[in-house]
Amino acid sequence: MRRYPASVKIIDARRWVFSNIQSLSSGAALFTGPRSHSSSISMKQFLSAPEIGTGGAMTLPGRYFTSTEVFAEERARIFQRQWLCAGRADAISRPGDYFLRTVGADSVIVLRDATGGIRAFHNVCRHRGTRLCEAAAGRFSKSIQCPYHAWTFALDGSLIGAPSMDELADFDRADYPLHVVQTAIWEGFIFLRIEEMPDIPFEESHAPLMARLSRFSLPVLKTVEQREYTVRANWKLLFENYSECYHCPTVHPALVELSPADSGENDLVAGAFLGGFMVVRRPGGSMSLSGEACATSLGDLPAEDRQRVYYYSIFPNMLLSLHHDYVMFHTLWPEAPDRTRVECAWLFHPDAMDRADFRPKDGVEFWDITNRQDWHICEQSQLGVASSAYTPGPYSPRDSISAAFDREYLRVMG
Ligand code: FES
Ligand SMILES: [Fe+2]
Repeated sequence: MRRYPASVKIIDARRWVFSNIQSLSSGAALFTGPRSHSSSISMKQFLSAPEIGTGGAMTLPGRYFTSTEVFAEERARIFQRQWLCAGRADAISRPGDYFLRTVGADSVIVLRDATGGIRAFHNVCRHRGTRLCEAAAGRFSKSIQCPYHAWTFALDGSLIGAPSMDELADFDRADYPLHVVQTAIWEGFIFLRIEEMPDIPFEESHAPLMARLSRFSLPVLKTVEQREYTVRANWKLLFENYSECYHCPTVHPALVELSPADSGENDLVAGAFLGGFMVVRRPGGSMSLSGEACATSLGDLPAEDRQRVYYYSIFPNMLLSLHHDYVMFHTLWPEAPDRTRVECAWLFHPDAMDRADFRPKDGVEFWDITNRQDWHICEQSQLGVASSAYTPGPYSPRDSISAAFDREYLRVMG
């Protein structure tokens, strides 16, 4: 089996990482070991899963996958407070375009305002609380009108119409704008945070990601295909599954034909952002049914990027997979301890779309099959961890990024 060497080999990596992981306290930890000062991708340092090690970690106890109390705690501590990837900015390209996001009991309207900015508001009328908007996506004309008593809000959230309310002494429309949800944009992805937390700016909390992937032209990519799945498994099983390829020889025989299961090398090994790359065997090939690239390159990428797929998980709901010819990303939306809705989208460079070699289905269908293989094994895993016989098992050295995910999860859960 052909195996490509890491760009930089670190002889005593395992010892270094252990000593440094123990000192990590922020959610934005990254591998900052001995490295060159060069910003070149070729000088980034990567570690294989066994080099990172698990520290003897065991899988989580069963209640973490089945308990409604743990699920409620996750809602409060994670999904209300952390930045969630909500989708792509290009999904709402014109003023008035919007989509809804449901997070627990909260419905959020994410929209493009009249000046071209992206904003998010709770989907809750300031009169008597009614849902303002039912359709999952669409376009507001110039305002949002409540279907109950016709209070009307501008796209910046201000209340601009409230029939008969002038009859109420001291009523001031300015006191009743829509409740704002915080938003941030990174590389064309929209993030939102339900709970208002004016602490660390997104750019700071997500600093390890900021310039890391800029060579992939992410802001200009266009969504070509989207698929939605309902998986009868806990959301953490999906994260743990994404974080390792120990399962690939058994679960994804077609994938390992294209990319060796043991070729993973990681440059983000602790904290909220985890992952690295795997090697594509075929020169200039990609992850597709044919094994060939299915579109022209996303940008002026270095030669080594054309032989790699980068897989990064972004806590708590985003999985980002970067190929040299397209990008795929998943967002996870937990609905119950044993049920997760997953959205998956495939992005391509606009310049690729008019060319004869544009065959997006080749990549889309490959990953749709692979996705379903993962969902099936995660569902089988859910059934097992819900059993009275389940007890935590030892993570394999090839599961070290899954173990790192668990560590971050437990840290955030306090
Ligand atoms: S509840 Fe919205 S206008 Fe009355
Ligand atoms: Fe998989």
